[in-house]
Amino acid sequence: MHVTHLSLADFRSYARVEVPLDPGVTAFVGPNGQGKTNLVEAVGYLATLGSHRVSSDAPLVRMGADRAIVRAAVVQGDRQQLVELELNPGKANRARINRSSQVRPRDVLGIVRTVLFAPEDLALVKGDPGERRRFLDELITARSPRMAGVRSDYDRVLKQRNTLLKTAALARRHGGRQMDLSTLDVWDQHLARAGAELLAQRLDLIAALGPLADKAYEQLAPGGGPLGLEYRGSAGAAMATATSREELYEVLLAALGEARRSEIERGVTLVGPHRDDLLLKLGQLPAKGYASHGESWSYALALRLASYELLRAEGNEPVLVLDDVFAELDARRRERLAELVAPGEQVLVTAAVDDDVPDVLAGARYAVSGGTVERADR
Ligand SMILES: Nc1ncnc2c1ncn2[C@@H]1O[C@H](COP(=O)(O)OP(=O)(O)O)[C@@H](O)[C@H]1O
Ligand SMILES: [Mg+2]
Repeated sequence: MHVTHLSLADFRSYARVEVPLDPGVTAFVGPNGQGKTNLVEAVGYLATLGSHRVSSDAPLVRMGADRAIVRAAVVQGDRQQLVELELNPGKANRARINRSSQVRPRDVLGIVRTVLFAPEDLALVKGDPGERRRFLDELITARSPRMAGVRSDYDRVLKQRNTLLKTAALARRHGGRQMDLSTLDVWDQHLARAGAELLAQRLDLIAALGPLADKAYEQLAPGGGPLGLEYRGSAGAAMATATSREELYEVLLAALGEARRSEIERGVTLVGPHRDDLLLKLGQLPAKGYASHGESWSYALALRLASYELLRAEGNEPVLVLDDVFAELDARRRERLAELVAPGEQVLVTAAVDDDVPDVLAGARYAVSGGTVERADR
């Protein structure tokens, strides 16, 4: 798929901007702080309902405005669609498809699909497990948009179960009435059901992504691998032998049973996908804490390129977004990356100076400066 038009109102630094886009490569070039990333962040928002830079919507709304609108015309094969999101921080966001009546924001997932690589991605390798969980969950949602519903079910159940555990923990500490634990049993089942579905998708994803990441890393840094992607589940070793969703459900349920005493002591859910991690190995060692800056950077990039290859192979080519990445790479890796991505259906690149964009990525150029985005082809 590709985006043929992007339209923003009160998004980040833009009061209004209209950007027509073609398939192939488009580069947004301009000095720092001029609004290049803001543009691609908006495209990413349509694909994930989130920003790669901030965890809440408030910073995305232009200072002084009370809502932002992101709209895109999208072509997939011979189908055209118009998607629109209205961001209302503190209130429910709204969404429309083809100007018709409202749909839930999550119903637009799957229309715009992106793989976005940005300097922030170093946190995939060096950061907390939450970064890697978000990476996995955004990708499973891109592969299968209905997973957005499963994720939100899981989050809701988790929140309610934690509230219950907190109440139980308080009652226990203050010698209050013992809670009826059969209520907890029901929440265990809900958590295990949504959790197993999430787990099954994550495990399936990692199996598919591993070889592609390894290949991408070999292309970027020959001889530097191999990479190893290992899922670290809070449900323990029994997970390793579980293959089906039903088995994962049983494993989660059993692990919740075992953890119940400590959960009631601490008042929080200790088992489930929200406590898991993805171990990224480079050779025999974990990348986190061992890999150099350059290796970590290549690792993160390999994960994104693998994501791109995977989505492409599965039939709906995403837009590839490379935000400010060429300046960070040495000349050889820059050329390799450019060759890898040049044939993509649509590639959006941002760079501070024209020379950072490799020649093989010839395409449309926009100059971004002071809130304006103007065509400036070479
Ligand atoms: N909510 C907002 N309202 C107004 N300006 C914003 C908002 N969020 C970010 N900005 C401005 O956008 C600029 C950064 O834009 P960005 O796209 O990150 O720049 P770059 O071209 O370097 O990628 C900064 O000047 C920042 O002050
Ligand atoms: Mg930027």
